[in-house]
Amino acid sequence: MPHARFITFEGIEGAGKTTLASHLAQWLQTQGIPVLLTREPGGSPMGESLRPLLLHQTIDPYTELFLFLADRREHTLRVIRPALHSGTWVLCDRYADSTLVYQGYGRGLDIALIRQLNAIATNGLTPDLTVLIDLPVEVALARANTPNRFEAEGLAFHQRIREGYLQEAARAPERFLILDGQAPIAHLLAPVQQALQRWLP
Ligand code: TYD
Repeated sequence: MPHARFITFEGIEGAGKTTLASHLAQWLQTQGIPVLLTREPGGSPMGESLRPLLLHQTIDPYTELFLFLADRREHTLRVIRPALHSGTWVLCDRYADSTLVYQGYGRGLDIALIRQLNAIATNGLTPDLTVLIDLPVEVALARANTPNRFEAEGLAFHQRIREGYLQEAARAPERFLILDGQAPIAHLLAPVQQALQRWLP
């Protein structure tokens, strides 16, 4: 059985990650590949309970960091790893890069510390491919309909997030595929399909 792949989707809110991930999951299934589409926060039973806390309560930045990491560890150990082991590809809407960028670049917590904590939370699991949908903050925020407390942050916060993603992508160009979030969804699917060709049977 060929090695199942782990693909994550990242970007600022309103970038279109969720739509792209679900289109891609459908396409992989038509190729005969078993796929699990999941997300963070959430994705594990504990994560789904944490999700409303994380999205709607005002909490201390470190508390926020620890909750995202706790969510990730449960999700990785109980859902993502077992799926990959059984040969199922995993498509995940947000993963470790979200914490680096939102809690690190966005909230100003120590980025090197977050890298270490992410390594623990993920047991060292790194995506095979991370699709970063990049677009101007103003365009993305205009698309968001029901704001959570991250969406309610100012423009400067989201600008730091966008820049943070681009910096992280520049650190690991072999893992990241950067797409133009202003292009229609139909144009975003093809480059991802192309990037996955090397792993398809
Ligand atoms: P969600 O409603 O899933 O937003 P989106 O559709 O934009 O992904 O909310 C997830 C929010 O949580 C989003 O604003 C980013 C934030 N977040 C972090 O701050 N750190 C993290 O580690 C993760 C996974 C998400």
